[in-house]
Amino acid sequence: MRRAAYDEIAEWHDEGLGENWILHDLALPNLLELAGDVEGRRICDLGCGQGVAIRAFAKRGAKVVGVDISEKMLEFARRHEREESLGVEDILDAARKLSGFEDASFDGALCNMALMDIPDLDETLTTVARVLRDEGWFVFAITHPVTRTPGSKLGMDAANDSAWEITGYFEEGFWRSDDPRGIRGKVGSHHRTVSGYLNALSKAGFHVERAVEPRADGRLAERLPKYREVPAVLAARCGKVVE
Ligand SMILES: C[S@@+](CC[C@H](N)C(=O)[O-])C[C@H]1O[C@@H](n2cnc3c(N)ncnc32)[C@H](O)[C@@H]1O
Repeated sequence: MRRAAYDEIAEWHDEGLGENWILHDLALPNLLELAGDVEGRRICDLGCGQGVAIRAFAKRGAKVVGVDISEKMLEFARRHEREESLGVEDILDAARKLSGFEDASFDGALCNMALMDIPDLDETLTTVARVLRDEGWFVFAITHPVTRTPGSKLGMDAANDSAWEITGYFEEGFWRSDDPRGIRGKVGSHHRTVSGYLNALSKAGFHVERAVEPRADGRLAERLPKYREVPAVLAARCGKVVE
């Protein structure tokens, strides 16, 4: 397997994890809420990285396995598992393949802030549908496609909160922010419109059961006040359409 983009930034990503309030305050709590009771459920995490989401699900009693294309990110996942064992497993693979998993072998699948890192959305969603049993669900959270657009420039803190520019929403495809401080400046992003995501889900055999666009409050809103007005994250729960 080729060296993955996140191999280059795994250490930086892990070090900054505690400060990633969009992840901790918006994405993760909503994913957990959308998934509901996961006690005893077998769940696959696509693009698990160093395992933040999957560890949160494991703490709620789920039997979890993470999949990621970056060996370095998985090294951090294993380090966290050694520090606090939750029975989390991980596998190096591309989300579009999930090669080691049989059809209908999971109760649920999740993808926390990683779909925009995955280039082949259609194939990935078709594979997710394949590994889920008929009553299975898929929950995901992404950077909001309306605010995190190609070329968008966002204020990084309250001091430059007025420096927001949203551009290029209709330009689907890979882009890289010219701000090297953030993750999208370091690894780029595969932008899709909201309708692009909805149509891809539908094509892969999913229906959206519920969607959430959480409004920032507390420490996140203090640091990035704009997120009181516009969404940082789009999260949804989807079910499989069974013929
Ligand atoms: C922004 S990180 C999110 C990590 C983790 N889900 C979290 O919430 O902290 C995106 C992750 O997606 C992984 N990734 C990118 N493309 C992938 C692919 N095609 N298949 C599997 N994982 C992929 C990256 O290696 C990276 O670990």
